[in-house]
Amino acid sequence: MSLDGKIEDLRALRGQSHLGGGEERIKRQHDAGRNTARERLDILLDPGSFRELDGFVTHRSSDFGLGNQKYLGDSVVTGWGTINGRLVYVFSQDFTVMGGSVSEVHAEKIIKVMHMAMKTGAPIIGLNDSGGARIQEGVASLSGYASIFLQNTLASGVIPQLSVIMGPSAGGSVYSPALTDFIFMVKDTSYMFITGPDVVKSVTHEEVTFEELGGASVHASKSGVAHVVGENETQTLLLVREMLSYLPQNNMEDAPFIASHDDPLRADQELDSIVPDNPNKPYDIKDVVHRVVDDGIFYEIHAEYAQNIVVGFARMGGHSVGIVGNQPIVLAGVLDIKASQKAARFIRFCDCFNIPIITFVDVPGYMPGTEQEHNGIIMAGAKLLYAYCEATVPKLTVTTRKAYGGAYCVMSSKHIRGDLNLAWPSAEIAVMGPEGAVEIIYRRDLKETDDASGMKAQLATEYREKLANPYVAAARGFVDDVIEPRDTRARLINGLEVFQNKRDNNPPKKHGNIPL
Ligand code: HXC
Repeated sequence: MSLDGKIEDLRALRGQSHLGGGEERIKRQHDAGRNTARERLDILLDPGSFRELDGFVTHRSSDFGLGNQKYLGDSVVTGWGTINGRLVYVFSQDFTVMGGSVSEVHAEKIIKVMHMAMKTGAPIIGLNDSGGARIQEGVASLSGYASIFLQNTLASGVIPQLSVIMGPSAGGSVYSPALTDFIFMVKDTSYMFITGPDVVKSVTHEEVTFEELGGASVHASKSGVAHVVGENETQTLLLVREMLSYLPQNNMEDAPFIASHDDPLRADQELDSIVPDNPNKPYDIKDVVHRVVDDGIFYEIHAEYAQNIVVGFARMGGHSVGIVGNQPIVLAGVLDIKASQKAARFIRFCDCFNIPIITFVDVPGYMPGTEQEHNGIIMAGAKLLYAYCEATVPKLTVTTRKAYGGAYCVMSSKHIRGDLNLAWPSAEIAVMGPEGAVEIIYRRDLKETDDASGMKAQLATEYREKLANPYVAAARGFVDDVIEPRDTRARLINGLEVFQNKRDNNPPKKHGNIPL
């Protein structure tokens, strides 16, 4: 046969593999409001940058219920491409081929690109749409899954791993995403659960829909499994592209420097009056964040979950930073189990990938009560403490108002290697708030007086003047400087530049034992 003929054959084979499970199944996928595996890659990657691997691989499944069905590339499309010109590796599960189920070769294809990503130090992005383990393969499929889990674990902290859930993600399919750094979900068309509604009904007699059991809104607000949710597939994939702009390619590199026209020295007078005079009145910490970061752009993570703490990425003076802030408008910014876990995981991610952490502190303490105690606030709170203590990236802290008790220690204080600790004049740094302190110290006097509330108010003022202010800490060097709020942006950018080459190490060890 002539070379022309062979090229014709190659084109025919490619055409076949690009059709996945065939036109009818593609139509079903579209009718369900979902794109195909390849269409998704077209949205995610820079145009024309995708290079496919293993497009000629076929499955080794038994013919149980399959007959002689074989599809080139099997149920996953893998390869590399670029996002904003930077190399990434991808896999995109093809639901039109046996429901995107994970066969042995499907797993081998994923593991191959993961190895390449590790070798070349580039992020891996998984687009998940799968009915779980390939039923026709039994243990071979399970071995494939387990090998992916191992690879996810080995890659953790070496390269960023992002998972996008774009359809069902059932059974084993949830654990690979759960081992990665961030999970994105698509509203209304993506689901994650260990067992589906039918199994739930037969085991617990609970009737629940797919959406109620494991839809995007449940995982974004209740379980915290989803970090970012998009309105539709396109928006979700664009959010993935945007997140990558804040991340380095691997743990040996820094995140890209992206200059902006926002003046690093820009003062913001509105900040001077953002904290209300009444210490019990809330304000939105996100207003502070937006006013301080470059161009007011804040990429929030876990926006719907544990809203009493705010985490996300931003840039300051062109440098990528991780922001952590207590949120006074939700539960007065108290630290509870969910908030501690949310922030701890984010801090550890930033520390893995050399992203400096900026912390805004306004925290009345840890949440009291039996519900929190019985569910393990001690261990959850310790996770946050551990994460801050262990982090060696530049840590910059601004105390805007309350920093009481254990929560003061935890929130990137000087004592746990805070590099630059600034406070606004409105800061109240002490063992506890004035009311609580007065009630303990003056319990007997308050019982005996006829004017307990007048006495309390007067003692609280005295307490504030003597103890609950930033100057006591500043006099000890625990706060490096008390600054005017308007200067926060300039002071933080200066701090980032000073500390960008900081050297700090933890003692040699196999790994620490974070209280899980
Ligand atoms: C082989 C599968 C499959 C599977 C779906 N298909 N799941 N083939 N192995 N696991 C095939 C179907 O036969 C069908 O083939 C096509 O994919 C589409 O499936 P439908 O059921 O028609 O689609 P839909 O109605 O959208 O429902 C999707 C679904 C459902 C919710 C994912 O298919 C489902 O419940 N699948 C099983 C989920 C599951 O229990 N998986 C095993 C989990 S255990 P045709 O030819 O009609 O297109 C597991 C263990 C791993 O994963 C453990 C590791 C720790």
